Amino acid sequence: MSDIITITAPVNIAVIKYWGKRDEELILPLNDSVSATLDTNVMCAKTSVCARPDINENEIWLNKIKESFNNKRLQNCLNEIKRIARVQKSVDEEFLSWNVRIYSENNFPTAAGLASSAAGYACLVTALAILYKIKTDISTLARLGSGSACRSVYGGFVRWHAGVKPDGSDSIASQIANSLHWPDMRVIILVVADTKKHTSSSKGMQCSVATSELLQYRVLHSVPKRVDDICTAIQKRDFAKFAEITMKDSNQFHAVCLDTYPPCVYMRDISHSIVEVIHRYNEICGEVKVAYTFDAGPNACLYLLEKDVPEIISLIKQVFPTSNPEFIKGLSTQESQDRDFLNQ
Ligand code: ADP
Ligand code: DP6
Ligand code: CO
Repeated sequence: MSDIITITAPVNIAVIKYWGKRDEELILPLNDSVSATLDTNVMCAKTSVCARPDINENEIWLNKIKESFNNKRLQNCLNEIKRIARVQKSVDEEFLSWNVRIYSENNFPTAAGLASSAAGYACLVTALAILYKIKTDISTLARLGSGSACRSVYGGFVRWHAGVKPDGSDSIASQIANSLHWPDMRVIILVVADTKKHTSSSKGMQCSVATSELLQYRVLHSVPKRVDDICTAIQKRDFAKFAEITMKDSNQFHAVCLDTYPPCVYMRDISHSIVEVIHRYNEICGEVKVAYTFDAGPNACLYLLEKDVPEIISLIKQVFPTSNPEFIKGLSTQESQDRDFLNQ
């Protein structure tokens, strides 16, 4: 049996959402997206992998439950990594003939709209790349598992360029700014529900591409300018602009979900109450101090600056009194994840 490789990887929460593919197999998006990668020590996937001559088939355990390996994305990732290992002759043929055992756990809700597929696949392909001793672009491998995963490979603020080439060679993620660029940026996650969503992101976006006219408008007329503007806001550390674009994009993304037929309803009443509270708070402050964004799920992600954390936390406890301190998880993009995973 091989050594056991164990890796952790962070989630990233998009401020300009990826929603819609132009190629399902290669996982190529219709639009650029932008995200921030969160501290690994608060929310992360942890994955161990090994290759063994004594198991009859590849195995994957997710959150202590054995899942089927008959999953195209998993197989695409493993096959691509083995193909590269063959080309690079990084391990011998006997090693390549062994099956793998994968064991992964997320320390946060899985498939609940908190980017588990991003952390999960970034973690999985990194661990496998180390196991098979390959040198390659990890982000591209991660994309084959889940689109958003290509952004979790970098720290700080990250842009996934949609690209135009049919082979996907220009559909890559790159860092806009590292985590030290905006050291007082913070994130609070409000877990509204930790249950698995009814419609996975993959299925939901497939349905939106097929049925939503608003999605076409978004891709062509909204996202390009928003991406440019938010990159500038990040570069200038212009929080008010960053926050406004983030909230508008979250709202438009959920409008697309509702414009999908049948509609994909990811936000709940409490999610909408959070939106209302944040707008009211910003209005009372006379400046935009906090931004919300919701992925494909009911859970809120708030972006704010360090100086405002205590006030926002007490506001949330006041408005949502049933929330216990576990309800809020303070996160930060401060600690640098800017490392080449293969060199750790
Ligand atoms: P989320 O909003 O949490 O990203 P998705 O619908 O995009 O939800 O993806 C959820 C799926 O991602 C899970 O059903 C599982 O197949 C995969 N996934 C989540 N976490 C992991 C992990 N740690 N390792 C491998 N795959 C994972
Ligand atoms: C709303 O990356 O989970 O979180 O590529 O099909 O695995 P697949 O989808 P996924 O979609 C993420 C959608 C989103 C927005 C985002 O993260 O950009
Ligand atoms: Co996902």
